[in-house]
Amino acid sequence: MSESTSPTSPDAVPPPSPRATSAAAEDYLERIAALIKTKGYARVVDIAAELKISQASVTTMVQRLDADGLVKYEKYRGMVLTDAGEAVAARIAHRHELLTQLLRFFELPEDVIFRDVEGMEHHISGETLEALERLTRYLDAHPAIVAQLRR
Ligand code: CO
Repeated sequence: MSESTSPTSPDAVPPPSPRATSAAAEDYLERIAALIKTKGYARVVDIAAELKISQASVTTMVQRLDADGLVKYEKYRGMVLTDAGEAVAARIAHRHELLTQLLRFFELPEDVIFRDVEGMEHHISGETLEALERLTRYLDAHPAIVAQLRR
């Protein structure tokens, strides 16, 4: 390769889009939305327990999400998602459900599916997700092909 990309060159790695949400932030938004859905509220202590990290780390991330306009956080009252936070959380939930649905065609154990989806969901591009969405719809409409794949 004749490419002369220096690792120190500021052009070597494009900066992340300001709209992009980090994998960690996505995990938080996913948990917060799930907690609000099941319990009606999300507290730092609950998120810390679910993600198995310290409350101090959770507070730092939640404050960052607040600064990014995704969460409204009040120290002693917990947090709610803003409209923008809701939109990101809905996108995350859709992606999670789609990938889960796809893997279920192969009758993999549920715990394996959950673990793998949690890993894959943050690293998949919009283009690939769209392709897998078409594949999922196709398999859903063609049970005979699903049966063949399972053999
Ligand atoms: Co997920």
